[in-house]
Amino acid sequence: MVNTQVTLSGWTLDNPVIPASGTFGFGYEFSEVYDLNLLGSISLKGTTLAPRFGNPTPRIAETPAGLLNSVGLQNPGAEAVANEEMSRLSRVFHKKVILNVSGFSKEDYVGAVQALCRKDMVGLFEINISCPNVHGGGMAFGTDPDSAYEITRAVKAVADKPVYVKLSPNVTDITQIALACEEAGADGLSLINTLMGMRISLKDRKPILKNRTGGLSGPAIFPVALRMVYDVYEKVRIPLIGIGGVSSADDVLEMMLAGATAVQVGSANLVRPDACKAIIEELPHRMEAYHIESLSDIIGGAHHGT
Ligand code: FUM
Repeated sequence: MVNTQVTLSGWTLDNPVIPASGTFGFGYEFSEVYDLNLLGSISLKGTTLAPRFGNPTPRIAETPAGLLNSVGLQNPGAEAVANEEMSRLSRVFHKKVILNVSGFSKEDYVGAVQALCRKDMVGLFEINISCPNVHGGGMAFGTDPDSAYEITRAVKAVADKPVYVKLSPNVTDITQIALACEEAGADGLSLINTLMGMRISLKDRKPILKNRTGGLSGPAIFPVALRMVYDVYEKVRIPLIGIGGVSSADDVLEMMLAGATAVQVGSANLVRPDACKAIIEELPHRMEAYHIESLSDIIGGAHHGT
């Protein structure tokens, strides 16, 4: 019998598999597909202080082994998430969740977190300073160490749960941003968000996405994400949640060997809605195949002796 439990800042999860923010709605939408309580947790749809309609369409484009999105943080706003979406989810999901929060200013992040505090259902806040699809916020904070420090510090001052910061891969050296967040008091880091990309319609001779650019996700970015988790693990002491193109139990194991304590699954949910269930069911078999008794023993294992 293998042990799939992992612990994030004192919160023990039955397994490390978590649907990534933006690919799983507010969770309850998937409750007819399978019993959500199989999951380690769920990272809810990115939430801002005020409701947002998102970017104009088209905002999705296919790519080889991936997907470009420019959704633009469509969400009903922090009050509605706290009072309506989370209460809907609590009817079908009986574990703690990750609240992914975005903003356009320091005050936005602080206000949204304050609106979402005092909820027993929250395991941790995931502060998204890496959305590539909005102007005047999002990724702008995640590509500059000083801004990343400032947002992290401001959120830490009001949050009543651990604060994890979601990092952008669209930087020269992600470890500099990671170190700035750690210094500002972050309890952990989630990485990576999507890579900025573009597609052009040959028929129209213009970008397919109305917003011109979008964030690339899917299996195509897995090696990039893995490398960044590996690099950041070498520099910081706080736990990491690995994200980026994970679509199998073997990918989960690789991410953990690189240094992730837990792993989020994103685009795979859009390919098959029961992707996380399939990965969770496959995980014990793959652990046995690789003689892994306890998942927590392999975190960062690829660094030993390298
Ligand atoms: O456009 C979006 O809503 C994407 C958000 C993100 O990648 O963080």
